[in-house]
Amino acid sequence: MNGKTTVIQQEQVNSQLAFCAEIKAFWLEQNITPTAYVETYGCQQNEADSERIRGLLIEAGYAIVQEAEGADVVVMNTCAIREHAQQRVFGNLGALTHTKRRHPRQKIFLCGCMAGQEQVVTRIKNSYPHVDGVFSTHHLWQFPEILRRVLFTGKRTYFTADEPGSIVEGLPQQRDSGLKAWVSIMYGCNNFCTYCIVPYVRGRERSRKWEDILAECQALVENGVKDITLLGQNVNSYGKDLDQGVDFADLLKKIAEIPGDFLIRFMTSHPRDASKKLFDTMAASPKIAKQLHLPFQSGSSRVLKAMNRHYDRETYLEKVNYAKSVMPGLVLTSDVIVGFPGETEEEFEETITLIEQVRYDSLFTFIFSPRPGTPAASMDDPTPKEEKNRRFDRLCAVQNGISEELHKEYIGKTMRCLIDGTDKEFLTARTEGGRLVRLMGDKSLIGSFADITVTGATTWSLTGKLTEKD
Ligand code: SAH
Ligand code: SF4
Ligand code: F3S
Repeated sequence: MNGKTTVIQQEQVNSQLAFCAEIKAFWLEQNITPTAYVETYGCQQNEADSERIRGLLIEAGYAIVQEAEGADVVVMNTCAIREHAQQRVFGNLGALTHTKRRHPRQKIFLCGCMAGQEQVVTRIKNSYPHVDGVFSTHHLWQFPEILRRVLFTGKRTYFTADEPGSIVEGLPQQRDSGLKAWVSIMYGCNNFCTYCIVPYVRGRERSRKWEDILAECQALVENGVKDITLLGQNVNSYGKDLDQGVDFADLLKKIAEIPGDFLIRFMTSHPRDASKKLFDTMAASPKIAKQLHLPFQSGSSRVLKAMNRHYDRETYLEKVNYAKSVMPGLVLTSDVIVGFPGETEEEFEETITLIEQVRYDSLFTFIFSPRPGTPAASMDDPTPKEEKNRRFDRLCAVQNGISEELHKEYIGKTMRCLIDGTDKEFLTARTEGGRLVRLMGDKSLIGSFADITVTGATTWSLTGKLTEKD
């Protein structure tokens, strides 16, 4: 990798769209409407990528279906973040031998972060002969070319060459919702936290031009989207690779100036780069949700150093305290890893005291999983698995207690929420901070903001009712 970002030219995108047209004509000639199923694992980046894959498939004439059985194309968009995530994919991939046997013209593709690892690609080549094509995240925009080759030649096709990473604009995207939208503002990661596979499978950090992002958000708002989540592995370093004089806080401000009734959120923020300017910008704009996902990973400064996180416990707490002081009622969430190699009982206790101090609304908790090729995978790790499980259970118990207490504090409060769907006989809504509320009401309310009074709370969610107007 030479670290240089390639900008994929419009003609290159157009030639992919021409492949789509060719595939569409191929099916049309046979009077067949082909079907495709896309299964997504992992984070929001993958969700957003799957929307692009579906967009390309629709362009190629495919109807999107909800199961692999009988589908002409199956795409597994995979995650490599932990061993368990990968095992699930291999298991589900194995089961596709049966769907293919029952529907022999089925073509199976594997993409996403697992496809960025050489040993995974080798394993697919050798042990999963029913997989027709593999492409890493760098090659997603070439999916039409891969599909065409598989379809017209029957040859297994691999687009997995390691690339510095590119920026592609103008790909079709089939969004899952008309109400909420993911908008990728940057790709890749430069941080190389010692436990993490992402920089290896998604390449170097590269930002989209602010004009392109703004135009996309503008179009979304014009089309009725009410909730936009800006995506990147480390949104706070947005723009550092471009010479445009616009940092992440400036970008947020520009998006917040788009006329209309909508909310902006973002993830993920790296604590090292989260600045006072960012928190002040959030505080100043009613359109920026007062919600912050700020992964701390460990409460011990020694472990944070071994993780290569570039902040310590004290600076993390200072930042959180500042954010809370300028945004009262801020909803804070985080990621944490227990059982990092060499983590002692005392260091684990520092994680517990940190969550007790910060009082997160909710936490994503993980047990360290060694990823081949990362520095942490070869660190000395004497703590037995049972001990790590015990720490994990204790962490979850402490956090569940905090979440429940914080949720109880909502009872009796009235909040403006976006009503976004249904769950059985209930409507579902999200508070500005992203908490789930269930309530009774008419389906015609879906898509609108409404004042909701909270009447009940559990560890995980809230119940409420529409606030009666005087
Ligand atoms: N870019 C984000 C995180 C993306 S991965 C950030 O830096 O905050 C999502 C979460 O998965 C991480 O925050 C971390 O808590 C967890 N994670 C990543 N690699 C892991 C590993 N090898 N074992 C266990 N958890 C891991
Ligand atoms: Fe992984 Fe660290 Fe990058 Fe997040 S910031 S994606 S944890 S390397
Ligand atoms: Fe997984 Fe890749 Fe996201 S490894 S967490 S899908 S960036």
